[in-house]
Amino acid sequence: MRRLWTLEEFPFHPERLNHCETLFTIGNGYLATRGTFEEGYTGELSTTMVHGIFNHAKGVLVPELVNSPNWLPIHLTIDGTPFRLINQNVTTLNPTGGAVLGYRRTLDLYTGVLTREVLFRAESGSIVRLVFERFACLHDDHLMAQHVQIVAVDGTPVIEVDSFIDHRVSNNEAQHWTDVAVGGAGPRTQVITRTNQSGYTLGMAAHLIAPGAINTVMENGVALSRTHFTLQLQESADLYKYTTIFTSRDLADPTQIGGALHQKLDEAVAEGFSHLQSRHEREWAHYWDTSDVQIEGDEASQFAVRFTMYHILISAPRHDDDVSIGAKTLSGLGYKGHVFWDTELFILPPLTLTQPKLARNLLMYRYHRLAGARHKAQANGYEGAMFPWESTDTGEETTPQWSDVQPDGSRIRIWTGDSEQHICTDVAYGVLQYWRWTGDDEFLIKYGAEIVLDTAVFWGSRVEEKNDRYEISQQIGPDEYHENIDNSVFTNRMVVWHLSEALKLMEWLKSHASTDAKRLTDALHLTPERLAKWQDIIQRMYIPFDLEKQIHIQFPGFFDMEFIPVPHYEPRTLSVQAILGHSRSIQTQVIKQADVVMLMALLGEELASMPVLLNNFNTYFPRTDHGSSLSPAIHAWVAARLGLADIAIDMFEHAGSIDLNDNKGNVRDGIHGAACGGTYQALVFGICGLKLDANGELTADPQLPSHWKSVSFNVNHRGQKKHFRFTNPA
Ligand code: BGC
Repeated sequence: MRRLWTLEEFPFHPERLNHCETLFTIGNGYLATRGTFEEGYTGELSTTMVHGIFNHAKGVLVPELVNSPNWLPIHLTIDGTPFRLINQNVTTLNPTGGAVLGYRRTLDLYTGVLTREVLFRAESGSIVRLVFERFACLHDDHLMAQHVQIVAVDGTPVIEVDSFIDHRVSNNEAQHWTDVAVGGAGPRTQVITRTNQSGYTLGMAAHLIAPGAINTVMENGVALSRTHFTLQLQESADLYKYTTIFTSRDLADPTQIGGALHQKLDEAVAEGFSHLQSRHEREWAHYWDTSDVQIEGDEASQFAVRFTMYHILISAPRHDDDVSIGAKTLSGLGYKGHVFWDTELFILPPLTLTQPKLARNLLMYRYHRLAGARHKAQANGYEGAMFPWESTDTGEETTPQWSDVQPDGSRIRIWTGDSEQHICTDVAYGVLQYWRWTGDDEFLIKYGAEIVLDTAVFWGSRVEEKNDRYEISQQIGPDEYHENIDNSVFTNRMVVWHLSEALKLMEWLKSHASTDAKRLTDALHLTPERLAKWQDIIQRMYIPFDLEKQIHIQFPGFFDMEFIPVPHYEPRTLSVQAILGHSRSIQTQVIKQADVVMLMALLGEELASMPVLLNNFNTYFPRTDHGSSLSPAIHAWVAARLGLADIAIDMFEHAGSIDLNDNKGNVRDGIHGAACGGTYQALVFGICGLKLDANGELTADPQLPSHWKSVSFNVNHRGQKKHFRFTNPA
């Protein structure tokens, strides 16, 4: 059913402008462009984000992914009336002079093609039907295509067209571009510009095809491709706009960018829109061949798993292993395009299981940033590699130290860059999970092992031997409401996991790749003494646990704080932290997101027996306010494993609809990438119980919600595509 592949907006909802821009983002793993409109509006958040183009602008605390020139603009005038859905003031519905008679926008998730149909009456009385289509070619990183069909439904309208690339863009107020060179001739225009601190050159060129003669006109420093023509009654015209893009990340010699842009435009014009579209759609069909999950009996969940997978796929780099996916994917300015643990523990697993080549690219991004991680370790007095909590192109720590100014004028100190050190085990987890599922020994031996081992070296130097055991002070676990605590059970236990995996990995390397084992031993100084210390840490690490209650303790002292019954604070759109205020909530037991429950998801029964896991869940679930979008999916996963079917489906539905529903009103900043990846994991690892056993074989233990008929999907397991279908008894 095609319907369950289609995101639709009908009629137009101006009050949801920014929310919908995020949802209707298109992309091809090289760039993504929000669903803003060709004619442009005040209040829109128009962005095109290109992987890897970071810049640290004056007046901004940290580097950020740069908003690139806008390639969408096509301005139409019908008999002198500008085509607009709304006035400049986005809240008014009546466009100057004209009238919008009908509107529908659809994003076909199966093909990645965004379509908008509008029936519009000009002041003259002429009525036109406009169909806008656009896609970012999946088969070609550097090419985007647009089509506008204009049908004269009533009257003989004169159509005027201005098409251009708008370089007058910023990230909010921050200006990142300098040395802008704008030019054009006939149907072509181009912009070449450079980021003002990092020095990346970016070029874009566009070619317009239209019925009338096209001239380039310079207006306000922008090169417009301008044309006009008249339509007879019932006649239709087609406009095509192709845009190409190259940056100095693609071409070592930036002076070649102009040539590359025009060569690609020549090819696109020669090939034509429908051929390009077929090639693009064929690539998408390949993606869905392995990445689709089918749910029978629950249309909302079916749509949600496709929508969330679509957003992962459009942001996953295909041909670049030096970039990674930020917390808000490429779909908005939120979190400044920075890469967090969201990538390795939330977004990566669906790619590991369904698109291993894309997963490998993301892990290589971390490999290429080991120098930055070593630098952070050294700067903090440690050994090995300490990945930054927030990462950009340099690999240096880029977490801001201070928040934006609060309503009362103050700024809050952000400690995550200092203290959320569990990122080091999260990256290692992503590497080993990828290796186990794919069997990609070459990756592990050449690259992955170094990540796992050098982050283990970091932990070996980071732990503190005191109180006759090992401890780790000053941490932030996944629950960021409690800052700079000692002995986060999540962190301490994951360090034990990490070090024991590192020791097993050394043994594996010695027997399967002895030269590399020696290379790494020498390079990372993996002396017998160091390995013996790892063993000692594994045995003597402090794991906070309440013997009487048989539960893990999130950190010592947690249960001494004020208890707040989180379920009483419903219904709410704010987090309980926001309701209570920052300074009060840090002194309560309110938890931001899955923390001990996250540990349970990652380690399962390796962590504890089923009764203890259940005790943990029953303890921590009612204390969690899901202030982070990362939380519901993990709860769904764990609840399903514990047989808590109602909670599992409730949390699963919550996770899958975070962006679609926008209950918290922050989707304007971008898609919650981790919630998207978490939704897949909740389904596949949680509800279907898919896992690898000790021998690396696949096992499943489905616990389908009672109203579902079936779930089917494919996964890649050690180079082979395996199909699963689980059904509920009829
Ligand atoms: C969450 C983190 C997450 C970050 C980026 C925060 O609100 O607490 O776990 O990494 O957002 O998504």
